[in-house]
Amino acid sequence: MSKRKSKIHLIAGARPNFIKLAPLYHELKKEDWAFPIIVHTGQHYDLNMSGNFFKDLDLIQPHINFGVGSGLHGEQVAKIMIAYEKLCVEDRPDLCVVMGDVNSTVACVLVAVKLGIKTAHLEAGLRSFDKTMPEEVNRIVTDVIANMLWTPSRDADENLLREGVAPEKIKRVGNIMIDSFENCREAIENNRYFTNLKLNKNGYCLVTLHRPSNVDGIENLSKICEVLIEIGKKIPVIFPVHPRTRTRLKEYNLLSSLEKCSSLKILEPLSYLDSMNLVMNAKFVLTDSGGLQEETTYLGIPCLTLRPNTERPITVTEGTNKLATVSGVIQDIADIFKGRHSKGKVPDLWDGHTANRVVSLLKEEYNSGGI
Ligand code: UD1
Repeated sequence: MSKRKSKIHLIAGARPNFIKLAPLYHELKKEDWAFPIIVHTGQHYDLNMSGNFFKDLDLIQPHINFGVGSGLHGEQVAKIMIAYEKLCVEDRPDLCVVMGDVNSTVACVLVAVKLGIKTAHLEAGLRSFDKTMPEEVNRIVTDVIANMLWTPSRDADENLLREGVAPEKIKRVGNIMIDSFENCREAIENNRYFTNLKLNKNGYCLVTLHRPSNVDGIENLSKICEVLIEIGKKIPVIFPVHPRTRTRLKEYNLLSSLEKCSSLKILEPLSYLDSMNLVMNAKFVLTDSGGLQEETTYLGIPCLTLRPNTERPITVTEGTNKLATVSGVIQDIADIFKGRHSKGKVPDLWDGHTANRVVSLLKEEYNSGGI
């Protein structure tokens, strides 16, 4: 009798998860031993934060969606845990794969580990060493308890080894975000979103901001808005606004001053293809996103990251990323205009084949009876 297929939960909840999930889902679908199941927690639920990504990434609708929605962190994690535990008890998977560092990641890995289900963390080992970031807490907890740790780069391996993780648990597979980009490259290049906005290649700056440390406070956010208006005097600024940021801008009465500024274009959050089309044609990107630090490094686009630290230091040491402050960013931009910025190189294993490496590892596990 042939062995039954391995039931693999791929967990996603928030926007960056969908980009990591897609290449792995597509590769697993090709395997006759694997039965991949997309589990969406519903942490993100707006069409432009979730549904549009499924469309762009050629994903089917999630097999399961808990629809937990927004809330305080304790409440959100708890709701996801209750829903995921129920699912696992009713229909136990052979493996639970969590990705990234969002609340859905930590909630599901906790449930699976406690039920004795094998777990894997895709994008393990990243550290900002800043526990005031909710994501850092999520990363640490996930990596301490998950069985398999798939890392994107050498620094991540080193972090895990320093924390006492057994070396055999760590497998460097590369950066899965690049797989998504390469899978969609043609559609991104043909998308022409930047020309529809009547922008020129290298003729605008793309801004994204959503970290609580930047947007959840009137003082910080007002200074950032002043800087954006200042940048607008030099170059058109395209600013797709995350729902968290839009709420704060309205609450602090800052949105109208941005909307009045003719060189600032305030947009709704963009789909994957539109946003990547804007990234690859931009003069530079100003952001606090984790994914954009990586995508700009891959594409050789200068990136200024408005944060005191990054869990992706390789984008600074090898790539085009620079950490920036509100008071220093205008000078950083002047440097970019003078060509005085890092041209960078693409880090090792950021090659579009990460999902294949993960599938090979899982096939070995399957063949040895591990999953
Ligand atoms: C989450 C992740 C963050 C990731 C980001 C990407 C955590 C702790 N944070 O942050 O790591 O970089 O996603 O976007 O998991 N909202 C909507 N519609 C949506 C989703 C959110 O309106 O579809 C609004 C709600 O007001 C919500 C707020 O945005 O309260 C924040 O959403 P939440 O999922 O809590 O965190 P993010 O800031 O999106």
